[in-house]
Amino acid sequence: MTYGTDCEAVLMTTTFPAIPYLEWISGRASEATHDLATSDLNVARHDDSVVPPVLADLADPEDETLVGQLASRYDVPESSVLVTAGASHANFLAASALLDLATEVPDDADDADDSDNSVDSARPQVLVEKPGYQPLLATPEALGARVDRFVRPPEFDYELEPSRIDGAATDSFAYAIVTNRHNPSGELTPRAELAEVADSAAEAGGYLLVDEVYAPYIDPATDGPFGGVTAAGMPKTVITGSLTKFYGLGGLRVGWLIGPEAVIERARSASMYLPSVATPSTKLAQRALHHGDQIEAAARDQLSTNHELLASFLAGQPSLSGRIHAGGSFAFFEHDDCDGDEVADAAWDQGVLVVPGRFFDLPDAFRISLGGDPGEMATALDVFGDVLDELTA
Ligand SMILES: Cc1ncc(COP(=O)(O)O)c(C=O)c1O
Repeated sequence: MTYGTDCEAVLMTTTFPAIPYLEWISGRASEATHDLATSDLNVARHDDSVVPPVLADLADPEDETLVGQLASRYDVPESSVLVTAGASHANFLAASALLDLATEVPDDADDADDSDNSVDSARPQVLVEKPGYQPLLATPEALGARVDRFVRPPEFDYELEPSRIDGAATDSFAYAIVTNRHNPSGELTPRAELAEVADSAAEAGGYLLVDEVYAPYIDPATDGPFGGVTAAGMPKTVITGSLTKFYGLGGLRVGWLIGPEAVIERARSASMYLPSVATPSTKLAQRALHHGDQIEAAARDQLSTNHELLASFLAGQPSLSGRIHAGGSFAFFEHDDCDGDEVADAAWDQGVLVVPGRFFDLPDAFRISLGGDPGEMATALDVFGDVLDELTA
């Protein structure tokens, strides 16, 4: 696919190769006896009913729209909100919109400097955090962007450093992507620091995209949306979220994109190429948000119990190193003697699912997530502890 006119030489080739992590994880959770890979706080699990049990006996809101409910939670105008089929769809639409804006034909296109018209320098540049969640780099790459990485250094607890964006941005910089909490480490970046990263992206001529699916994973809750931290409302900043993780309602496929109107309008146009969210899902999402206090309190109970479980598990495992961030229920660990694949393979042999770090750019590590019922998580950790004992024996 070629965007723009010949004189701009803005070439973007679109292709959709397999995303290795999604190919690997697909179907594994249902095959696993002990799922230590999902971070979805899945209150509604083990039930095949159409309406998730957690929503079954709750009343529907009157005179509210889903867009209105989200706008009021994030304290933004409704024109800044687009409802999507989960955060994956939101991230795709954000990429489409931001790349579209970056490759806009300027009014003075005839005067454009085309002295360096190599394909790579002409493609819009997207900077993605490293380590990171593969679909976040696969998506802009599939849409034809040039994807470069900036490091969140393991030795500094994967902290976000704004100067890394300036350092890596080229003239064709379009946007930078971060997750908050960080997937895979669980590191949480406060709003003031996100603002610095957004400034840095804006100075480099682009936007900041923050995937906030794990932002509500904080205990106790703050006064932000879903009790978490958000970058919503900052200049040249777009955020994505969904009901999959904290509400455990991934089956609804409801997410959102929040950002400046110009971005939302582009994303809305791009969304017309893809299926939209089904009405029953929209209605159930409205119901979930209407009773958010109750669902969030239950989610936070589960989060906090699972956090304690993971923290005491780590304390009893001398062969493991890594940090569990306050309030989080997933983390990225290294084993003294084995790489991430060796740990994940040994665990899988005993029916335990953890994710090898190679899917997050760090093959020495593995990611462990406690999303399920605390009783099941405790059992799963016991079995995983035995796996680690065997490995070090
Ligand atoms: C950082 C991140 N973003 C998005 C998603 C997908 O979210 P959704 O189910 O809402 O599409 C995941 C799921 O693992 C994720 O880890």
